[in-house]
This record gives sequence, structure tokens and C-alpha cells, in this order.
Amino acid sequence: MEEKLNEIIEYYSSQPQPASQENLVAMLREIQGLLGCIPLGVQERAAAELKVKPSVLACIVKLYPSLKQAPYRHEILACTGARCGAKQAGEILQTLRRELGIGKDGISADGTVLLRTQNCLKHCPTAPNLYLDGVLHTRLTPKSAAELARSLTKEK
Ligand code: FES
Repeated sequence: MEEKLNEIIEYYSSQPQPASQENLVAMLREIQGLLGCIPLGVQERAAAELKVKPSVLACIVKLYPSLKQAPYRHEILACTGARCGAKQAGEILQTLRRELGIGKDGISADGTVLLRTQNCLKHCPTAPNLYLDGVLHTRLTPKSAAELARSLTKEK
């Protein structure tokens, strides 16, 4: 796998415009195809080879929802807007963080769930809301959020 990874990085660093966004995205897609994600260490190595700042690659990974830094299986987008906030969204977020063991990078302790937040998901009438893998969950409570989190960790 190491050899194949080197091949990919070498190929994209020898392109006429290695630092172009098109080239970088294509390289990151290929790396993800090989490894399942684009770990930070690999981003740094590729950035050095292509003579771009590691923050440029990190930005692209953040920008493209299909690219991921860690091999998580589920993504939760929790609302931190005012309407949800008035209905226990803060407690719900804390519950999710606690149940899943979410670290500073937003990834759960077992590496399978990414938790992100957004200020208003534009579904205020059914607050509090969150998206799990693109599916809207409405009128949550800390209890239902805990159950949702547990259903994800039980999956293995
Ligand atoms: S504040 Fe949560 S959906 Fe608008």
C-alpha cells in the first residue's frame, strides 16, 4: 500500500501544475480510494511533495464533503441555532459528545462517527433538530439523542 501511495503522490507532483486545485482534488480522491480516508500525516507528506502548505490540503478536505480525514462511518450535523437552543439543543449536544466520546477533532472515541454543528438547519418549527447521515431527525430530547448515539455505537 505504501508503494501505491508513493506512486500516487509522485504522479500528481509531476503534473504541469501540481498546486492547481484540480490536481490536488484528484490526488486526494485517489488517496482516499486507496486508504479509505486521508489521514493528517499523509496530507502533510503529500503537501511537502507538491510544495503546497498542508493547510491548503486541509482546506480542500474540509471543503469537499466527499473527502474525509478519518475513516468515520456516520456523520451527525447538530443544530446550535437559537430556536433549537431554546429547546435543549445544548443538552442534546453534550449528550451526543458524552455518549460517543467525541474528541476535539469531532471524531468519536471509536473513530466511526463525526459530529459537526451548524447554526440553524432551517427546520426551526420542528426544533431541536439534527441530521444523521443526511437524514433529518426532529423534536429531539436528550433521551432520544442518547438512544440515537447508542444505536450507532452498537452497530459493529
Ligand atoms: S435553530 Fe435549529 S433548525 Fe433553526
